Amino acid sequence: MTETNKRKLHSELEGLIVHGETPVGWDENTPPNETLDQYGNLSASNRGVVPVADPRSPSRRVYDDPGVEALREHLRQHNGIRGLEICEPTEIKRAARIFHRDGFVVVADLLNAEQLARWREGCARALRDILSISGQGNRKYIGETGRLPHRYGYGTSSASRQMLHDLAWASMVDLPTTTPILIEIFGSSDYRLWGSGGDLCLPGAIEYQHLHSDGKDAQHLSESRIKRAEALGVELKTDSEGNLDVPTLKLIMEMAAPSVTINFVMSDLTWENGPIRQLPGTHTVQQPPPTSADEPEWMRLSTLVGAPAGAGVFRDVRTWHGATPNLSREVRALPNVEYAAPSRSSEGFKKTMPHEIWETLTPHAQKVCEFVKAEPGVWPPGAGVMHPLASKRAEASKASDRVL
Ligand SMILES: [Fe+2]
Repeated sequence: MTETNKRKLHSELEGLIVHGETPVGWDENTPPNETLDQYGNLSASNRGVVPVADPRSPSRRVYDDPGVEALREHLRQHNGIRGLEICEPTEIKRAARIFHRDGFVVVADLLNAEQLARWREGCARALRDILSISGQGNRKYIGETGRLPHRYGYGTSSASRQMLHDLAWASMVDLPTTTPILIEIFGSSDYRLWGSGGDLCLPGAIEYQHLHSDGKDAQHLSESRIKRAEALGVELKTDSEGNLDVPTLKLIMEMAAPSVTINFVMSDLTWENGPIRQLPGTHTVQQPPPTSADEPEWMRLSTLVGAPAGAGVFRDVRTWHGATPNLSREVRALPNVEYAAPSRSSEGFKKTMPHEIWETLTPHAQKVCEFVKAEPGVWPPGAGVMHPLASKRAEASKASDRVL
């Protein structure tokens, strides 16, 4: 990159925001579908070599490229779930009913003005850290290992794998608007925090991310899962041999979600700025979702257009979902908080929340965070280091117990 371009990039990052117009993004020197391995080696995957590639993406990452214009026009006309229901935070039972039916629900006004401003600032700050690392050759930015260009995860870019060392994220674990809905969804207040991160795309993320689930449900039939389903209104019916019958088993699996993630909306989701797509009713589908090459157009258009800034989408993480093209001039950030069901043991949880942060939380949040809280005086390895490359994150988390 030339000195002039470096200076330009520096000034772009100085004023970086995650809502409203920004000069960031649209790097025409980053080819479509290019991905990086853990060390930053590039692979052009637009011939379908890498499974995450979108074979239908425009051929150039340029705002007014004819292929981009054609896709923009198509999205302007067709993007978004028709009749998307958006609940108010006071509609607790309605929100839970839609969540259990569809595998997700959008709720407006989860964040007040101060909380929204705090998280926007945090999202811009963490993104600035990521983008300030030079890209290869003449590219403006370095991509994230295994992700399509101009797409990053806050959690996956953090060397601790979570953002719980940052108050902008940690302070959102227990909100007066979200906690009653979580309790209604889980059928109990004994859920636990798993992590906090979320994803974002820069303007010019022209490819669709492949449809996927965030976690596989082993569908174990534990005593606690049956109890939780019962608390949610599932009637336990048995077959002629006294075992729970198949419709009951299916209902238990549908209603008792293993994990719930809330993604919060930093800027209104529009047809143009990369609204997340969610496929209703796929939370207990056993088949894998279609590949990018096979995905039908109606699935690509099944997006949450109309979700306003300050809203959030409660997601059963099993539900098929994916990111969509951001053809606007605005960053689309969806920071999140991730919760595990009450029946989970502490196994697999990582202690990524510093004790000093935990001390600032509400009593309920302190209980919810007990499995992720580090001991006093122990800084979570890697916390505070943001890097898109997996190898650099591994180095940072190994480097020392205290990195700040
Ligand atoms: Fe995902």
